[in-house]
Amino acid sequence: MRKPGVLVTCRVPSAVAARLDEACEVDLYTGEEPMSRGELRQRLEGKQALMCLLTDRIDSDVMDASPALRVVANIAVGYDNVDVSAASARGIVVTNTPGVLTEATADFTWALILAVTRRIAEGERLMRQGRWKGWALDFMLGSELGGKQLGIVGLGRIGRAVATRAVAFGMRVAYADPGLTGHDSHGLPYARLPLDELLTGSDIISLHVPLAPETRHLINRRTLLRLKRSAYIVNTSRGAVIDEEALAWALREGIIAGAALDVYEHEPAIHADLIGLENIVLAPHLGSATVETRTAMADLAARNIIAVLSGEPPLTRVPESR
Ligand code: GLV
Repeated sequence: MRKPGVLVTCRVPSAVAARLDEACEVDLYTGEEPMSRGELRQRLEGKQALMCLLTDRIDSDVMDASPALRVVANIAVGYDNVDVSAASARGIVVTNTPGVLTEATADFTWALILAVTRRIAEGERLMRQGRWKGWALDFMLGSELGGKQLGIVGLGRIGRAVATRAVAFGMRVAYADPGLTGHDSHGLPYARLPLDELLTGSDIISLHVPLAPETRHLINRRTLLRLKRSAYIVNTSRGAVIDEEALAWALREGIIAGAALDVYEHEPAIHADLIGLENIVLAPHLGSATVETRTAMADLAARNIIAVLSGEPPLTRVPESR
């Protein structure tokens, strides 16, 4: 009997490819650039499964390229790139990769918090430009974390893993949860505050909400004005949770002290107004980028595909997927 076909839109670790090979006829895209929509539609034709990236926009137009499609396995925890209701209407299961990237993303969030508060990227730029004049008592002073408040927006898996690490830095944690993380935060030892109050009282704000209509531009001119002038904002969730133009204004005008971003509204583009600012750390969407985690993500996506194609429930179906 012919094995079901799966289109994989990126190179995957060999163990993952081997797992898929056993159960499916694999069509693996190996290009450097994200797959074009035309090629995606064309190569998806007749396939039962699609393993894709957050850079692939999977809408009804793409899904209609293959009436045989049964599962879309996104290699990411976020799935705002997939039209889940269009998938459900076509009987297509959508899966994501929660859990396996929690620790790596929480670690990276702390790397950004430390980088921006201790001006590491700014200092590195200065060194490379040969502009360091030597140690001075008042040179490139940053801000300490001990005794300050970390404000987590979205206390899901990653938000909680970031909160856990705050103890090591002597910070207290408070959070606001717009109710989109799908997690019960009862019983956790952190103060829950309304968003505006959290923004007003926190020294570091770290964003961990999924991108949804309710969270698009959650951080905007109005909310930025609530922050302390000494506050920093860190985003490892989705770029469009912040209005980048408003953020550039706040950083330029000293409305806040600094920001560190791993994600952008229009990746891979960065808002031109952000590039020239010294008080922002810009990372190229690396939150989950460790060998271990990226392997685990691809493997989980493969196991989801194999489960669905064998008539079993997927391991990690996205909550809205039917
Ligand atoms: C990365 O951004 C992810 O959603 O996994």
